[in-house]
Amino acid sequence: MYAGGAEKKRERPMTVARLHAIKREGGAIACLTAYDYSMARAVDAAGTDVMLVGDSLGMVMQGRETTLPVTVDEIIYHTRCVAAARQRALVMADMPFMSYPDAATALANAGRLMKEGGAQMVKLEGAGDQAHIVAALAAAGVPVCAHLGLQPQLVHKIGGYRVQGRDAEDADAMVEDALALERAGADLLLVECIPAALGKRLARRLRIPVVGIGAGAGCDGQILVVQDMLGITPGRPPRFSRDFMPDAGSIPAALEAYVEAVRVRTFPGEEHSF
Ligand code: KIV
Repeated sequence: MYAGGAEKKRERPMTVARLHAIKREGGAIACLTAYDYSMARAVDAAGTDVMLVGDSLGMVMQGRETTLPVTVDEIIYHTRCVAAARQRALVMADMPFMSYPDAATALANAGRLMKEGGAQMVKLEGAGDQAHIVAALAAAGVPVCAHLGLQPQLVHKIGGYRVQGRDAEDADAMVEDALALERAGADLLLVECIPAALGKRLARRLRIPVVGIGAGAGCDGQILVVQDMLGITPGRPPRFSRDFMPDAGSIPAALEAYVEAVRVRTFPGEEHSF
């Protein structure tokens, strides 16, 4: 079992194998988004395990309404900035909307994110019907994080940003999807805005680590958008986030406080969960 503060700074560079070992040993994986060099340096120095160059950059960096307009070239640009800052955290890059409609296109774009951007893992949204894409990427040696629950790229299809998997049938389907993605070769699963009980169930059922955002404390790790946890996102903060700035007083201290709170499982609390 990881001893929280004592394990706050995991000094060796993070790898997929180490993420899996953290889960096996009962530790918690601390992840944050990052989009630029200076912030990525601070996020990495705080002991974060995974830095995600999320397509959320469309909203928090570009001021767009949704993540849909983000392009592969934009993700590559921001991934390069983040990868330049990397000392220890694993750098994961999002596959933007419509960049993985079939296996051949997914392979070409994931290859660009890794070769041109320096990503060490790619993330894609989609249920069990994306398993063939995950399988093609995995077979080509691309580490993959699958993304279930609320999928912001589907915002126009589902009609808003809502908690997913609330009823028993949807929850069972999500578990089946997650198992199919794991069998296809996914190395990590990110789940967004689902009931805490379902987050815990997924973490127990899967061999691969399950990282949650708005998915309760029973996941194997947590991720937040860095602007949300620093309290600088305009408008009402999402319920699943916590502003670490007021208590910490500085950006480096807030980032460290977040990493520590994830490791000792004091974040998320029930008030951040569904
Ligand atoms: O794009 C993003 O930032 C995400 C969040 C769920 C972390 O996918």
